[in-house]
Amino acid sequence: MADSLLTLENFHVAYPGQLDWAVQAVSLKLAPGEKLGLVGESGCGKSTLGRAALRLLPATARLDGQVHFEGQPVLEFSPQRLRQFRGEAIALVFQDPMTRLDPLMTIGDHCIETLQAHRPGLSKAEAKERSLHVLSKVNIPANRFNQYPHEFSGGMRQRVAIALAMLLEPKLIVADEPTTSLDVTVSAQILAELTRLCEENNTALILISHDLALVAEQCDRVAVMYQGALVEEGPAQSVLFDPQHPYTQSLVESALHLQRSNARVASVEPPQPLLRLPDLTTH
Ligand SMILES: Nc1ncnc2c1ncn2[C@@H]1O[C@H](COP(=O)(O)OP(=O)(O)O)[C@@H](O)[C@H]1O
Ligand SMILES: [Mg+2]
Repeated sequence: MADSLLTLENFHVAYPGQLDWAVQAVSLKLAPGEKLGLVGESGCGKSTLGRAALRLLPATARLDGQVHFEGQPVLEFSPQRLRQFRGEAIALVFQDPMTRLDPLMTIGDHCIETLQAHRPGLSKAEAKERSLHVLSKVNIPANRFNQYPHEFSGGMRQRVAIALAMLLEPKLIVADEPTTSLDVTVSAQILAELTRLCEENNTALILISHDLALVAEQCDRVAVMYQGALVEEGPAQSVLFDPQHPYTQSLVESALHLQRSNARVASVEPPQPLLRLPDLTTH
């Protein structure tokens, strides 16, 4: 237990008024600095698990089992301890960064406000210096500091959201489909930046995604969820290349199928669209 950052034991979650568990009997361990991918189809319970373990669901949700963060029982935290835990120990990055960004506040003010809320001893000048430093780590130049969220592209907003998560040097970041709404190239760049930053700071990462291949590339370990339960968990490469559970095997199969058809589209693209002949290779 000593080298575990987050431990879930027989963890169950049900939404208010629901008899069925949305997440059931999940046991999982995350070491400091470890990157864990959490995958599975839409509705299988990934977001519910991520939020419930961080106590971010409404208080009326039913939680059962054990969650420990650095050996301390998260499900028993007082409101005060919980506030500190959410601000400093952990951070969340969502699919849509606008849920985190206030359209009426500049990017700089977002950063400074976050820092000053949790580090009251920090002067405004110090907060600005730290903010510029972290923003530069996600490739947001200093001349963007006084701009508003609407002046940023989707990819840059997500970079800002990552910077905001990194500002307080949390021990764990939960990134829930952080790049799903971005195009493939930008998505890959941002995920690479996120994982590199986590490595630099020894921040653990739970990367939630429906995309097994992408997660396996970025993470040390992968956990696969199906209908609220964890069906498989192991080193990223073994889960990808030697999946044991039939559900994981079908995920791998569809990921490979997608890759194959993408490769085919790229290789049959003719230079002169007007001369395109019927493409027999795809039928
Ligand atoms: N606020 C909610 N109230 C009731 N049920 C919910 C709520 N949010 C999600 N669920 C249900 O919980 C299950 C898991 O959802 P979710 O964790 O969002 O899945 P995923 O993130 O894997 O797509 C689904 O059956 C979903 O319908
Ligand atoms: Mg989700």
